[in-house]
Amino acid sequence: MTEPTRKFPPYERHVFICLNTREEANPRGDCTRKGSEAVLERFKQLAAEKKLKPRIRAQKSGCLDTCEQGVSVVIYPEAIWYKQVTPADVDEIVESHLINGIPVERLRLHPTGPGDSARMSPIGNA
Ligand code: FES
Repeated sequence: MTEPTRKFPPYERHVFICLNTREEANPRGDCTRKGSEAVLERFKQLAAEKKLKPRIRAQKSGCLDTCEQGVSVVIYPEAIWYKQVTPADVDEIVESHLINGIPVERLRLHPTGPGDSARMSPIGNA
């Protein structure tokens, strides 16, 4: 008997939150000093509360090279980048983007024109 093939990639949406750190004197700053640990924890908390796991995974990343705009977050497979994310913003990102497939335009690093969101699909709640 063969094992069932695991679907790959296993996540419908994969969220990376920058937790890079730098020396305090570095002019680029870093996302951790801007509160990225709390952003990551809020993503994890909501994923659990809304029963999005294991379809959604939120995890830390290294520097995403958009430091001046941090806290930096990117979500795949759509490759939607968010800037200056706070824990208070995470609820909206989870509900709008992760569950309903609608990016949060006011937080996007690279806003695009109308119709861009049409490629995305809602996954709904568990
Ligand atoms: S330190 Fe977060 S993007 Fe560079």
